[in-house]
Amino acid sequence: MPTGRVEVEQLQALDFDGALERRALVDPFGRDISYLRVSVTDRCDFRCVYCMAEHMSFLPKADLLTLEELDRLCSAFIARGVRKLRLTGGEPLVRRGIMTLFSSLSRHLASGRLEELTLTTNGSQLARYAREIAAHGVRRINVSLDTLDAEKFHAITRWGNLQDVLAGIDAAQAAGLKIKINTVALKGVNEDEFPRLIAWAHGRGMDLTLIEVMPLGEIGRLDQYLPLSAVRARLAERYRLDDTDDRTGGPARYVRVIETGGRLGFITPLTHNFCESCNRVRVTCTGTLFMCLGQEDAADLRTPLRASESNDLLFAAIDEAIARKPKGHDFIIDRRHQRPAVTRHMSVTGG
Ligand SMILES: C[S@@+](CC[C@H](N)C(=O)[O-])C[C@H]1O[C@@H](n2cnc3c(N)ncnc32)[C@H](O)[C@@H]1O
Ligand code: SF4
Repeated sequence: MPTGRVEVEQLQALDFDGALERRALVDPFGRDISYLRVSVTDRCDFRCVYCMAEHMSFLPKADLLTLEELDRLCSAFIARGVRKLRLTGGEPLVRRGIMTLFSSLSRHLASGRLEELTLTTNGSQLARYAREIAAHGVRRINVSLDTLDAEKFHAITRWGNLQDVLAGIDAAQAAGLKIKINTVALKGVNEDEFPRLIAWAHGRGMDLTLIEVMPLGEIGRLDQYLPLSAVRARLAERYRLDDTDDRTGGPARYVRVIETGGRLGFITPLTHNFCESCNRVRVTCTGTLFMCLGQEDAADLRTPLRASESNDLLFAAIDEAIARKPKGHDFIIDRRHQRPAVTRHMSVTGG
């Protein structure tokens, strides 16, 4: 990690090694790849029922990219035109030394090459890290929270404690971070709680986004599948929901709740209506690049990263992968076999 000006300059020379002669990342369908999500660990201090099995086996440490390698990988994408970077996991804040990665990546915010560095977190470690995260130039974060009921929270997360997350949210807001709450909609679990969550989040100046549960991993959770179209229809009986044009290039649609003045998002990953504007790719903590959350195709970036100190091989592997980015995804719940069509856990790609 850089400690002085000379080292930062050396790192920047490495970042852009060979990059300037290369084009921005544009896929075969003309979509500019400007958003990278990086899972920095597969580990987590929670075991959410829709995300992880209770007894997970995690990757051996040697398979993980080091923090330096993660920095180099992110920097290579930034050199090729990525403007928005989101760190996720597993739980990103349980990765040891993670603040050094925020610190080193912040040089791209300072240089203006990166527009936004952000984070998706379960909030459990925010009380400890919020100030430091804000000091490294992070402005907005997503915090996942499915319920405000302590017992339900424990049942959903298995290992989590609601008070820790609420304290983390307090600390993040005190540090000036803007927060969006992500809530997975679960049939028979939190479906009665959405008005309460809306009032709470909007009352604190936070956006709230509802996420349709996705068929990933051997979840066996199809019984909890709750279509957001039904949720929206029910909410529309109670609130005035005004459509907005706000789009993120991802699967979220936003409405303004007139009664609260806040924004409410709906993420319906099973629908195809966002693929044409998809500007994002994902890298796992082992350096595997997924061009689409809903497809199995992936590219190994760890080998070219480790093969040479120059970025030439890495850029070539990225180019080759982006040229294969599919037009759209293939999410299907295979109802006959009661299993998901894509078998990766969300904690692998970080959502
Ligand atoms: C995998 S987590 C990683 C970051 C962090 N641990 C967190 O929970 O925010 C990212 C997001 O994916 C969501 N998620 C996990 N499994 C999911 C599933 N099967 N369907 C829909 N969303 C899921 C989580 O609720 C969370 O908002
Ligand atoms: S959703 Fe996030 S907090 Fe929950 S188990 Fe998955 S990675 Fe951990």
